[in-house]
Amino acid sequence: MNIDGIPTRTVRAHPAQNCIDIIDQTRLPHALAWVRVASLDQAAHAIRAMQVRGAPLIGATAAYGLAIALDFEASDARLDAAIALLGATRPTAVNLHWALTRMARHLRPLPPAARHAAAWQEAAAIADEDVAQNAAIGRHGLAAWGELIAVRNGQPLRIMTHCNAGWLATVDWGTALSPVYAAHAAGVPVEVLVSETRPRNQGLLTAWELAQHGVPHTLLADNAAGLLLRNRQVDAVIVGADRIAANGDVANKVGTYLKALACADNGIPFYVAAPRSTLDFACASGDAIPIEERDGDEFRLVHGLDHHAQPSALRQLPASETVANPAFDVTPARLVTALITERGVCPASAAGLRTLYPEAAGEK
Ligand code: MRU
Repeated sequence: MNIDGIPTRTVRAHPAQNCIDIIDQTRLPHALAWVRVASLDQAAHAIRAMQVRGAPLIGATAAYGLAIALDFEASDARLDAAIALLGATRPTAVNLHWALTRMARHLRPLPPAARHAAAWQEAAAIADEDVAQNAAIGRHGLAAWGELIAVRNGQPLRIMTHCNAGWLATVDWGTALSPVYAAHAAGVPVEVLVSETRPRNQGLLTAWELAQHGVPHTLLADNAAGLLLRNRQVDAVIVGADRIAANGDVANKVGTYLKALACADNGIPFYVAAPRSTLDFACASGDAIPIEERDGDEFRLVHGLDHHAQPSALRQLPASETVANPAFDVTPARLVTALITERGVCPASAAGLRTLYPEAAGEK
């Protein structure tokens, strides 16, 4: 995806210097600030504090964080400790555990002296695969929208999304936004309706990256989505996922479920786009997906720029106020029109997933 007209990935690896550069997403949309991650603790902090966020990017960052951690010592004990630290940063996005498990499987059989270089190579492979898989999701998603595009007859296709499942949430292209970028590249007029996504406001990140790439969009308060769906001002909703269970249930940013319900009530297609690393075949249903509960101050404080254009927080609730801040919810498979993965489009069900991933049957 382009930033200032230049194709850019969200993570830059510097194996020779044993570090990566990431975009501090807590500074967006007001500032595009690259920060250096040069230690295991900094990698864990970046994920925990949501400097990097979005399931695939969390996975790639964790892989690079593990490579960084093995610089001076790559013993089994160091490997285990680094995986434990990184693995405990955020519970819901399974891509984190997928990436760490893949790294461990690759590294453990190697002699410790070979592990550091091998870790950098494997992390780079994870990042490269993410880019290729997301591009494939874009192609499959665009094909799935063929009928909707035809019905619009040259008028912009109106796509609603929630949270940020775009370039910023991945190494490149995004998942839910990848078909949008594919449509834009193919000359299909598209307008993205971007739900703000309180309390962390990831919708602002979506609006920012769409603006960078020149894709028309409109931001809306989360609570406005139902009205637009009921008024048929939306042709389809597409979201990403943090974990998809074996039965097709989808965990994604809190608020996703309400959009799926409103889509079902109004006959509007509701798509979920995700790569293989988000599929958890060992998880029987959405009931078994751990839901992250984040600090209540994310809700009690509102962040923005002050009148000197400096980053600032405003308190909207006293510290004593009890708040609930679940970061994700679960959308039952029956509300999902289809899953879009790098292998194609399938029903959100165990049978549907089996058609795309026959080799994953019985995976633990
Ligand atoms: O808490 P976040 O911002 O990491 O949550 C992100 C989401 O819920 C995304 O929709 C999901 O990770 C898919 S990203 C391609």
